[in-house]
Formats: sequence, structure tokens, C-alpha cells
Amino acid sequence: MSLFITFEGPEGSGKTTQIRLLADGLAGEGLAVTTTREPGGTRIGNAVRALLLDPDHTEMSPRAEALLFQAARAQLVDEVIRPALAAGAVVLCDRYADSTLAYQGYGHGQELEPLRQLGAYATDNLCPDLTVYLDIDVQAGLARKRAGAAEEWNRMENKAPAFHQRVREGYLRLAASDRVRWLVVDASQPATVIHTTVAARVRTLRYTLAGNEA
Ligand code: TYD
Repeated sequence: MSLFITFEGPEGSGKTTQIRLLADGLAGEGLAVTTTREPGGTRIGNAVRALLLDPDHTEMSPRAEALLFQAARAQLVDEVIRPALAAGAVVLCDRYADSTLAYQGYGHGQELEPLRQLGAYATDNLCPDLTVYLDIDVQAGLARKRAGAAEEWNRMENKAPAFHQRVREGYLRLAASDRVRWLVVDASQPATVIHTTVAARVRTLRYTLAGNEA
């Protein structure tokens, strides 16, 4: 059964750890699992990623930034996500179209509606079955991230704390607008506790989808 799950969250919310735990769990059950991330995940996407996250690119226009994220996304959908889903895999993606709404929309104050339309175009209307939002206090998340590898410190993370606060509030609004697709988890909990919550929701979703297919 194909399943498309995205992970969202502010900086330092622990998405990478949760994706690994879920991927290991599902693979342990014998499911084919594809994990990927945005921006990146393809040769073209990684080239775009380097452009986007370069700390020197301070002059990047907000619209150019939004379009570059969407371009990397379009490539990822066509090259990786759709083919994997067509082959029956579970696809776990670290960030997706909601990141653009949260960061470029709520964070930078760009209008949401054009970003939504561009997102629909970039993804060819491919919507996740489930979006896991790992919610963390902005300062706690940034501190976690700073404690990690220095080379991961990038242009987006260099922005003011108020920017990251808007991003978090944006995510919470997006999640509140669609409780069926979104699962909000308190990411200050231990990783194993978070994983148990996420795995339970994924199990329920699989039963539901299997029931619909039968
Ligand atoms: P990355 O190092 O992958 O961060 P993380 O581990 O938090 O995912 O860098 C991705 C950065 O790009 C992150 O700060 C979020 C930002 N971003 C956007 O602003 N818009 C988007 O559409 C996406 C996908 C990411």
C-alpha cells in the first residue's frame, strides 16, 4: 500500500530522528520505505538547495526564494516521490509544500494564496496522506540546532527569533485548519515517546486506507 507522509517543524524539532525511527519501524514490518528531504533529494534539487541555503545570498528576493523552493519540490515529486508511490512504497519526506506556507508565507509575510497555487502546481496536486508537525518552542529548537553540526547553520536559521516565532504560529494555524491530515506532537518529549505517538497514528491510517481499498 502506498502512503505519503511528510514531516514539518521549526528548526531543531527533531524531524530527522523521527523519520529514521518511523522508517526503521515500517521497514522492520517488511514495507518498502523511501525517505527523502526538501529542499534536495535529487541532483537538481541539491543544486537548488545550495543556492537557497548559502549564507552569502543575502540579496535573494522573497519571490525568487519561494520559486526556487517550488522548483526543487517539482523535481522531487516527479523524480522520486511519484515513482516510489507508484511502486507501492511508503514515502517519508522531511518538509514539503507546507514549509513554504510556514516560512515564506507566515514567516516572510508573503501572500498565502499565490504560494498555495504555486505549491499545487509544483506538486502536481500531490497531497500527503499525513503530515506530522513536531512542535517545539522556538528558542529551545534553535538551541538544539546550534548544539549540532556547525555546517548545518544556514541562511534560514540566521533569521531573527521573531521570524521563527511567526513560522511556528503559522504551522499551528495550518495544522488547526485540517486535523485529518495533520498530527501535532509536542516535540519537547523524549524521542521514543514521540515515535510511539507517530507510529500509532500511522498504524490507524494504514488500517483506514486498507479498509477503503477493500
Ligand atoms: P535544513 O538544513 O534542511 O533544515 P531542517 O533540518 O530544519 O529541515 O534547511 C532547510 C531550511 O529551508 C529550513 O530553515 C526551512 C527552510 N525552508 C523554507 O524556508 N521553505 C521551504 O519551502 C522549505 C522546504 C524549507
